[in-house]
Amino acid sequence: MNYTVVKAFGTESSNANLQLLEIKRRTLLGKDVEIDILYCGVCHSDLHFARNDWGMTQYPVVPGHEVVGKVTQVGSETSKYKIGDIVAVGCLVDSCRSCQNCKDDLEQYCPEWVGTYGGFDKHLQENTHGGYSEKIVVDEDFVLKVPDNLDLAGIAPVLCAGITTWSPLRHWKVKKGSKVAVVGLGGLGHMALKLAHALGADVTLFSRSTNKIDDAKALGADRVIISTDQNQMDSVINTFDVIIDTVPYVHDLNPYITTLNTNGTLVIVGYLGPLDPMLVTVPMIMGRKSVAGSLIGGIAETQELLDFCGKHNITSDVEVINMQNINEAYERMLKSDVKYRFVIDMKSLKA
Ligand SMILES: NC(=O)c1ccc[n+]([C@@H]2O[C@H](COP(=O)([O-])OP(=O)(O)OC[C@H]3O[C@@H](n4cnc5c(N)ncnc54)[C@H](OP(=O)(O)O)[C@@H]3O)[C@@H](O)[C@H]2O)c1
Ligand SMILES: [Zn+2]
Ligand SMILES: [Zn+2]
Repeated sequence: MNYTVVKAFGTESSNANLQLLEIKRRTLLGKDVEIDILYCGVCHSDLHFARNDWGMTQYPVVPGHEVVGKVTQVGSETSKYKIGDIVAVGCLVDSCRSCQNCKDDLEQYCPEWVGTYGGFDKHLQENTHGGYSEKIVVDEDFVLKVPDNLDLAGIAPVLCAGITTWSPLRHWKVKKGSKVAVVGLGGLGHMALKLAHALGADVTLFSRSTNKIDDAKALGADRVIISTDQNQMDSVINTFDVIIDTVPYVHDLNPYITTLNTNGTLVIVGYLGPLDPMLVTVPMIMGRKSVAGSLIGGIAETQELLDFCGKHNITSDVEVINMQNINEAYERMLKSDVKYRFVIDMKSLKA
């Protein structure tokens, strides 16, 4: 299949820095849209994937699945977008479109879903590459409309950090008066605070960091519980309807389960892998409490969130960086030293 070559930033191995690479973008198929990338958010998953933390990475990798850009070309059969439109792409660029999950707008659970990076592009017959690049070519069904009243750098993280926390808030029916807690104040965590607050919930942040209390309250938390302080943890036993756990590494879930109210659910979105220590079933059985997981969100639900953000004027708190500073940004993200999402200004790649 024909293609064009574009500049990108990626890595050839798990222990190498990200650097300038050249990648292919397919020549437009009928329903494809070519997007000139303006901003791309930096997700902790980008770092996990680049460093093969999940043991499934094939190299080279070009991360990035929080993409905002401008349409520069459209295929002959497109109907949703035109040249000049400001659009977004999140974590998905294709799926089978016929399984029950696809029919139910749950493309993220389709067995054949294609990730924006690290997926397989059946047209090019090679791995997909993400948003740390000049341009991307995506089927219009996986392209999203961006509300025109929002800052474009600030909207980028909605495409992953936002939808990953929105989807469980919606699935577990968070509404006015729901008691919601969020574990970890990073990219996902800060979006979870904003979104749960906007839904009218009473919101608590669990954090290890005592220096984030004022920020958390400004972002929408009604209170902050320092998770290493046993007295503070005891003060919220049997409290929450939903807990969204965004911590990226293995950690003890048991102290959080005891803070769920009867019928409450702890939703893991951060850590992927076996738990350690094991779960103690007693509080779960004694209070019909659940532990669940959740993966990003479908296309329709992501559009619903973008529209909700437009209506409520919600964007991410971002630190805009140049592409060339990505390796330093990864090190800072590992130290939780970002308020609260890095977003790459892709002009820097073109310079
Ligand atoms: N399920 C999905 O679909 C999905 C989608 C996107 C991302 N993810 C995953 O979600 C996780 C979070 O991503 P992110 O971009 O929000 O990361 P992030 O910006 O680095 O934030 C993670 C936060 O977790 C807390 N934390 C970090 N290390 C910890 C540790 N060892 N023990 C306890 N707390 C720790 C910190 O908050 P405090 O300082 O407040 O404690 C930190 O700010 C990543 O693993 C990512 O891969 C999953
Ligand atoms: Zn992500
Ligand atoms: Zn499917």
